[in-house]
Amino acid sequence: MPDHPKTDDLDALKAETEAALAAANDLRAWDAVRVAVLGRNGALTQKLKELGAAAPDERRDRGAALNRLKDTLTAAIEARRKALDAAALDARLGNERLDVTLPPRPVQTGLIHPISRAMEEMAAIFGAMGFAIAEGPDVEDDWRNFGALNIPAHHSAREDMDTFYLPGVDADGRRRVLRTHTSPVQVRTMLTQPPPIRVIVPGRTYRADHDATHSPMFHQVEGLAIDRTLTLGHLKGCLIDFLRNFFGISNLPVRFRSSYFPFTEPSMEVDIGWNRRTGELGGGGDWLEILGSGMVHSKVLANCGIDPREWQGFAFGMGIERVTMLKHGIPDLRPFYESDIRWLRHYGFSALAPAMLHEGI
Ligand code: DAH
Repeated sequence: MPDHPKTDDLDALKAETEAALAAANDLRAWDAVRVAVLGRNGALTQKLKELGAAAPDERRDRGAALNRLKDTLTAAIEARRKALDAAALDARLGNERLDVTLPPRPVQTGLIHPISRAMEEMAAIFGAMGFAIAEGPDVEDDWRNFGALNIPAHHSAREDMDTFYLPGVDADGRRRVLRTHTSPVQVRTMLTQPPPIRVIVPGRTYRADHDATHSPMFHQVEGLAIDRTLTLGHLKGCLIDFLRNFFGISNLPVRFRSSYFPFTEPSMEVDIGWNRRTGELGGGGDWLEILGSGMVHSKVLANCGIDPREWQGFAFGMGIERVTMLKHGIPDLRPFYESDIRWLRHYGFSALAPAMLHEGI
């Protein structure tokens, strides 16, 4: 037995391992070295296992030498790993360099249809006055579309509106119609929501009518406010504020003209000032009818389960296409629904610029 334990093989293992680590240029090669030395069947692990069979003296000295080597190699393996990680990061940073002077690739964004935009603007303006949005189905029953609104059967309003009837009746024996106006949502709201009420109802409506200024499907916005002390004065103030905000003309002339609707009493048609010759809104001395309104008829309140001795309110309704065409100078109704991309690009609105009051709409 030699005086000094043999360490040649350990020096050789150290040199081999260091050479293999230096040659390992990626994580996979690095891991192979690690496993070959420190793994379960690794060269160093093997030598540690063999220690058990050695004589006690040798075991102590060689054990110490093996453990020192293990520490040295473990540190060398760890250091190589860090160096490889750092090199990989450097390579990535090198490759990912951006050339900020390159021109951008154009991004095709969609545009908001003028009708949707008008609805957003209306929601913003009436929302600031405390109105919430209410909705109802396009397929209504004739009681909500007509009867509850004090439009009796055989009333001329039913014929005026050129109603689309659907075949058959619903579970309550009522005829089904494509709603001819958004007013049935007044009925739905009053039947389900205790007053006070403030809602606007933007939505699709249908009438059997088709020419340059009429489409069988069009859009309306309805308004309904019910409270204990609402008066015609509130109705007028609300609509004047709305129209001036919507058209962006702070001194837009607004005229209220007495009229007739079965569901309001008194009823008023609302005109705005414009120049018939140039089509310009504002001054000009001509009047353009823009919407219908009035104090909700006591019969309508009663039909919807609201006591007219305790509550009263106002309602209004207008065509969205019409005010949109006026606001943006769009001459023809038909392209609204033709999905012609050139028309949409011309009249559409950026989706990144939603309608908000502070934009001065
Ligand atoms: N529903 C009416 C129409 O389609 C518009 C209307 C007029 C609605 C007066 C109202 C109103 O709520 O009070 O012609």
